[in-house]
Amino acid sequence: MFSSNPPLGLYIHLPWCEKKCPYCDFNSHQADVVPQQAYVDALLDDLEQDLPLIWGRRIESIFIGGGTPSLFGAEAIERLFGGLRALLNFAPAIEITMESNPGSADASNYRGYRQAGVNRLSIGVQSFDDTRLAVLGRVHSSAQAEQAFVLAREAGFDNINLDLMFGLPGQNQDNALADLRRALALGPEHLSHYQLTIEPNTFFHHQPPPQMPDDDQCYEQQMACQQLLEQQGYRQYEVSAYSRPRCESRHNLNYWEFGDYLGIGAGAHGKITLAGENRVIRRVRLRQPRAYLEQRGQARIASEIELQPADLCFEFMLNALRLKNGFDSRLFHDNTGISLNEVLPTLKQASDKGLLRLEANKIVPSELGFCHLNDLQEMFLTLERGKSRPFFDSSQEIIHN
Ligand SMILES: C[S@@+](CC[C@H](N)C(=O)[O-])C[C@H]1O[C@@H](n2cnc3c(N)ncnc32)[C@H](O)[C@@H]1O
Ligand code: SF4
Repeated sequence: MFSSNPPLGLYIHLPWCEKKCPYCDFNSHQADVVPQQAYVDALLDDLEQDLPLIWGRRIESIFIGGGTPSLFGAEAIERLFGGLRALLNFAPAIEITMESNPGSADASNYRGYRQAGVNRLSIGVQSFDDTRLAVLGRVHSSAQAEQAFVLAREAGFDNINLDLMFGLPGQNQDNALADLRRALALGPEHLSHYQLTIEPNTFFHHQPPPQMPDDDQCYEQQMACQQLLEQQGYRQYEVSAYSRPRCESRHNLNYWEFGDYLGIGAGAHGKITLAGENRVIRRVRLRQPRAYLEQRGQARIASEIELQPADLCFEFMLNALRLKNGFDSRLFHDNTGISLNEVLPTLKQASDKGLLRLEANKIVPSELGFCHLNDLQEMFLTLERGKSRPFFDSSQEIIHN
């Protein structure tokens, strides 16, 4: 039984990009012209569908992801926020993040986003090596990435994340470190460091790029970069997330702590606890932008499922075990409504295998567990599953930073 609802965030998906990157499996679609005003109208109409689920609750964080949200001009984002503020109760210290691609960085737009209330910018840099940026099919150069950062600072952003990838085609430890040094020289508050994964349904999957580093080389790159990040005062708090003290992404922490979130926009999904009814539901929106725009109201909801206890246990562990310092043991009950006793035998088994530590009030993955995270998480995939369709679309929960 739930004693109260978990903290609540809002995810907004803007699904268009100037050009589709060959490694990307996000719900992003190449477009020359983006129907900005129509989409903002659709988002606000879409949000109204979820309001009955969250009456009286406060929004702690907002994340505008994509796609490339910075393809939207300041005017559209200001109108979006006008609508959001009219419909929602924002927490006083709300964190509002927006993703930006250096290819569409623009000084007046950045100022406009800031004025609209965006207080955290996440810039997709990927690499500072122009040859590698070309292999990755990026629409910007390393100089544009640095310029985007400067523009963001000038526009008043004092909380900036940079996305960087490693394990890139032709990359070795030295040039992975060189990339990271260029990023650190800018002094971002947060850095997301992702290993390039070749996802099914991407161009790279059909036509793998040459000279991909093998697993051992990627591991070495990661370890060397991690060491440099620690030396420079960036603490790893999640598998791919590093930050200066107190600059963790609050929105993503809420995903990893299995909090609640509304999800609006094409393909977005939300997870909402209805504590009074002792249930948790997940809603997913229509994925294709055109269909999403054409429909109205409830017709934009592609599916709704109720999460069953086995799903809740597994999904909680899938997220929370990604946290480097683990989680408070009370959080399990608070955010799943299930007693920790239900998973205690599995926790003890994992602890016996050396994959995690059971501390007084905390559950912490060990170094070994963190290295073999999939094995650790899978221990919580119980045989009782199957009462509802599993739903683990990690793209929204895990990648956004
Ligand atoms: C939705 S994208 C963000 C922003 C913006 N669209 C951009 O690319 O600049 C989020 C981040 O996920 C990471 N990412 C995307 N596809 C990936 C892949 N196949 N492997 C590893 N990281 C990936 C990239 O670092 C990217 O910046
Ligand atoms: S990585 Fe970013 S810019 Fe590239 S296609 Fe995906 S969402 Fe768009």
